[in-house]
Amino acid sequence: MARVSEETLEKLNSFIESLPQEARSKCALCSETLTHIVKMAEVQTGAGTATVTRVLSEKLNENAAPGDRVSGEALNQRVRYNEGLKCQSDIIKSERPSNEHFRTSFTGDNEWYTPIQYIEAAREVMGSIDLDPATSAFGQSRIKADTAYTEQRDGLSLEWSGNVWLNPPYSQPLIFQFIEKLVSEWTAGNLEQAILLTHNFTDTAWFHLAESEAALLCFTKGRVKFEKEDRVRAAPTQGSAFFYFGERTKEFTEIFGQFGFIR
Ligand SMILES: C[S@@+](CC[C@H](N)C(=O)[O-])C[C@H]1O[C@@H](n2cnc3c(N)ncnc32)[C@H](O)[C@@H]1O
Repeated sequence: MARVSEETLEKLNSFIESLPQEARSKCALCSETLTHIVKMAEVQTGAGTATVTRVLSEKLNENAAPGDRVSGEALNQRVRYNEGLKCQSDIIKSERPSNEHFRTSFTGDNEWYTPIQYIEAAREVMGSIDLDPATSAFGQSRIKADTAYTEQRDGLSLEWSGNVWLNPPYSQPLIFQFIEKLVSEWTAGNLEQAILLTHNFTDTAWFHLAESEAALLCFTKGRVKFEKEDRVRAAPTQGSAFFYFGERTKEFTEIFGQFGFIR
């Protein structure tokens, strides 16, 4: 880690101290606020993102309960991801074709549903879908998981177990939070298997996090046409990836091999 002068650290500490308590607590929740504050701190103190996020995490952790503590590296990844997101979002907006069946990936609308053929494939690989931790009443009427968590119940704060199907909300910070939760439940040994569906954003922190624990990935040939309640279908502007966590790698390869290539 690069050495940081005492003077920079002092400036940084007093910048963070000067923030209203509300802004500090919002940092832990909202990537937009976090990024804004980190960028302001960089300009005012001359410190880099890694240093700012490390010192900020120390401050946020001072009064946090053990389960709410956050690492500097996690904050750093969220800022980097959020910046990349803005940049991609700008490009997508400027290049979006005037075709009503196209949508951007970051409209902020999380209510897009997985076509049923992929759900059936996931059920065939895993044997069952015990939990869909990110859904709605409409989503559950299609997927029929044994247990389903909606936004009202907040799947992030509940227990996960068994065979999990996860197509997370794609808006930030939810996508990152759902993937963090999936990976931590998986590494804690709480799940039997899981299949995760996301866009194929291979440069993002959350993609790398999921990839680091998945047994196999399927990169789609062509795009998944997500669905709305009124049966409108729309493809994102890029392909998708299915991540498989579990031991039935042969079944995943055979069944998801029909949708794309497996690695
Ligand atoms: C991309 S959709 C996927 C729906 C369904 N699981 C599927 O695969 O078709 C993501 C869903 O997550 C829901 N959601 C958003 N925040 C949530 C939260 N905190 N807990 C549980 N579900 C949430 C949204 O309302 C939306 O229905």
